[in-house]
Amino acid sequence: MHQVDCPPVKAKRTILVTGAAGFIGSNFVRLLLRQDHDLKLVAFDKLTYAGNMANLSDLLSDERLVFVKGDICDAATVESTMREHGVSEVVNFAAESHVDRSILGSGPFVQTNVVGTQVLLDVSRSLGVSKFLQVSTDEVYGTLPEDKPEVKFTEETPLAPNSPYSASKAAADCLVRSYFHTFGMPVLTTRCSNNYGPYQFPEKLIPLFVTNLIEGKQVPLYGDGLNVRDWLYVEDHCEAIWTVLNKGKFGEVYNIGGNNELNNRTITEVILREMGASWEKSVKFVKDRPGHDRRYAIDASKIKNELGWEPRFRFDSAIVQTINWYRSNEQWWRDIKSGEYLKYYQMQYAQR
Ligand code: NAD
Ligand code: TYD
Repeated sequence: MHQVDCPPVKAKRTILVTGAAGFIGSNFVRLLLRQDHDLKLVAFDKLTYAGNMANLSDLLSDERLVFVKGDICDAATVESTMREHGVSEVVNFAAESHVDRSILGSGPFVQTNVVGTQVLLDVSRSLGVSKFLQVSTDEVYGTLPEDKPEVKFTEETPLAPNSPYSASKAAADCLVRSYFHTFGMPVLTTRCSNNYGPYQFPEKLIPLFVTNLIEGKQVPLYGDGLNVRDWLYVEDHCEAIWTVLNKGKFGEVYNIGGNNELNNRTITEVILREMGASWEKSVKFVKDRPGHDRRYAIDASKIKNELGWEPRFRFDSAIVQTINWYRSNEQWWRDIKSGEYLKYYQMQYAQR
């Protein structure tokens, strides 16, 4: 009998997205589903105080997405999840992510950010995943001088973390690097600057200030308010991660930044202006954060030149879009700013 040659069936990509119920992870899932890629996403999240099913709930009817509640430190659950769903790639967003909380207690940061990454690496290696992308931060490089605007973080800048948060992220980066060099694992690392956008937990500067102003409260500006961050809209970050996952070279680090350095006073002024609030009534200078890094700035020329990624969103319009998102999604943040959150707020700000 004549045999017909069938083309080999191309295996569908199945991506484990850890920390998918958090700010950036949920934006990443949302973007990929919207772009209509032919893939399956396994959203994996412990649902800590920062993880929120409301960030994903409107997406769960999509058959390309499944949600699994689990801890990245729990090797058995990670392994069974990856086997059951045939995971071929891993993008690790899961982390304890807030510097101020890492100052209150570093234990959970070492546990999730370091041990969790090690567990994910080991399970991924034993199952032979084809890609492992570690989502890291520019904070691993430490701080930059204010008086030398030409100096920015490159991928060659030595790691010099200054907070327990950034120290735990740097440790994870070192583990990822070592699994490339020792085991030849197909790893990629991205280091991004500060993100803003929808679904960000209202403990971070921008959503905290916007929601406080809607509530008629003051906004607490640390120290002299002149610390500088390089702000990037979250969708740009997600696009950059997708670009690195598809085109990045294994073992490489890619910096991601907005080329958008602003100090905290300027950010505050922009928010106040947009919300019709006055500086005199609304701003409270409070005691500085211990070890507060003065300036972050990313040189993103490598990802631009080698992979063709550049930010698409402009700060002046994306910040207005972001403020409007918090205005039209009051229930989302009011649900968060109750219970446990109030205890944290009290502990963080009452004595300042
Ligand atoms: P987030 O705090 O909003 O979300 C973190 C998510 O991880 C939450 O859903 C939480 O439930 C989950 N998680 C925590 N511990 C877990 C565990 N042990 N197992 C499984 N899930 C767990 O954080 P984010 O702002 O979305 O940051 C995501 C990643 O991006 C982090 O790795 C962070 O270091 C990195 N990053 C963030 C920024 C930023 O500006 N937010 C900038 C650069 C890099
Ligand atoms: P944050 O959003 O916590 O991000 P990161 O510390 O990871 O950069 O803080 C951004 C900047 O805003 C940082 O310089 C600290 C400052 N900040 C305040 O002035 N007041 C606040 O209440 C918070 C949360 C941050």
